[in-house]
Amino acid sequence: MHDIGKIGTPDHVLKKAGPLTDEERAVMKQHPEMGAKILSSSRVPVFRLAAEVALTHHERFDGTGYPKGLSGEAIPLCGRITAVADFYDALTMDRVYRPAFSAEKALEMLVELRGTAFDPVVVDAFVDNIATLDALRLQITRDRPTFSDLIDAA
Ligand SMILES: [Fe+2]
Repeated sequence: MHDIGKIGTPDHVLKKAGPLTDEERAVMKQHPEMGAKILSSSRVPVFRLAAEVALTHHERFDGTGYPKGLSGEAIPLCGRITAVADFYDALTMDRVYRPAFSAEKALEMLVELRGTAFDPVVVDAFVDNIATLDALRLQITRDRPTFSDLIDAA
């Protein structure tokens, strides 16, 4: 849900196998605000929280992220947590432009960005609980309904 704003990003940018141009990168960087706009119209508290996550998950702890360049604890905790989880999740999945990294390599890359891209407290908590988090991800992936399941249930 944090990337729901990508619904407004053209496929030629989303699915591009090579590096993005400056113009394409600028288009991609619109997805946090687009997602927040979509989700913040809800009065349901979990969707309002999701709007905050969508808006802040590309901020960086050192202030070099986007869209607002927030730093440190000015970034809502939900955004700081999602940034770490999103980074690890992305690295450990195949992409059109590269195969998945191993969990060990992804954790190593995460720790390298402790205190620059990511909140050190969140990184430490993530690393300390990685076995539980990996088990949860596996369970969620395994139990996720397919599109056919949803259609059959309707
Ligand atoms: Fe994103």
